[in-house]
Amino acid sequence: MKAEVEALVEELKRLRKAGVSRVNVSDAAIQALKRHAKAPTLDAKTRAAVLESIPDKVRSADGRDFDKVLTETKTETKKAAASRSYGAKLPRPPRVHLPEGDKQTRWDYLKEKVLTSSTCNEHVKPGKKVVFGIGNLDADIFFCGEAPGADEETQGEPFVGPAGQLLDKMIAAMGIKRADAYIGNIMNWRPEMPGPRGNRPPTAEEMAYCMPFLKAQLEIVQPKVIVALGATAAKGLLGADSFRALREVKGSWQEFEGIPVMPTYHPSYLLRNDTKRDKRGAWEDWLKVMEKIGLPISDKQSRYFL
Ligand code: URA
Repeated sequence: MKAEVEALVEELKRLRKAGVSRVNVSDAAIQALKRHAKAPTLDAKTRAAVLESIPDKVRSADGRDFDKVLTETKTETKKAAASRSYGAKLPRPPRVHLPEGDKQTRWDYLKEKVLTSSTCNEHVKPGKKVVFGIGNLDADIFFCGEAPGADEETQGEPFVGPAGQLLDKMIAAMGIKRADAYIGNIMNWRPEMPGPRGNRPPTAEEMAYCMPFLKAQLEIVQPKVIVALGATAAKGLLGADSFRALREVKGSWQEFEGIPVMPTYHPSYLLRNDTKRDKRGAWEDWLKVMEKIGLPISDKQSRYFL
């Protein structure tokens, strides 16, 4: 049966490549495909190949529409792949003992430890980089993102792609420079995806693995506030069960190990939702941060996006 399903997958791939987006197959074949795509033993790449092979519309020979079934399968298997195939093989989170010395000495040690970590490097594609935090070791503000994206893993620096450019603009709107702040991520490598494109949020295991590295950076910098950029960063800091939707905590002061945390929108969200309402919604959180650390707020700054 396995060989037959594999042959069917190959045939569907061929049809899809040829531009076919609707096929009629037997009920039995659809059920076999479903089972194949859901098999827990399937590795992520094969699962993705099976799902990729299924044309947009698959109808059984008797005309019943299987779109819904297949959509559910896709959703389930994506989630399952995220929690099973990715991160599940990670070792226990590392113990980080910072050496004695000044901030720079401790930071250099930590950076070297992260960049040479065999676990981090195992998850990075050839030619790409593990990404460690960057910025002023005496910063008042620690911006915490989710995980590196394509630009970040290429350059080895957090927030250097489009989201980073918006972050830089927002930092400048506060009246400070990127180099005055510290910028890090919950995770130190780009979460693996089967293909070259696309991003996914880190799994709980991945976040737990990288958390000691983030904690150590916070221990060195000792910022006055952490700005959690987006739901993943906020969940990483506040706990996976601390909220369901970001709006429950967005704009209200929280705490991570004694440091005030301001959860707010991720710059990527603002790039996707370029409305005055969302921009103002984000900026109001940033004003609270400015107030907290004692940055002067001009009339112009307080009125942005109104
Ligand atoms: N998004 C993040 O959360 N972090 C980055 O470094 C880049 C994009």
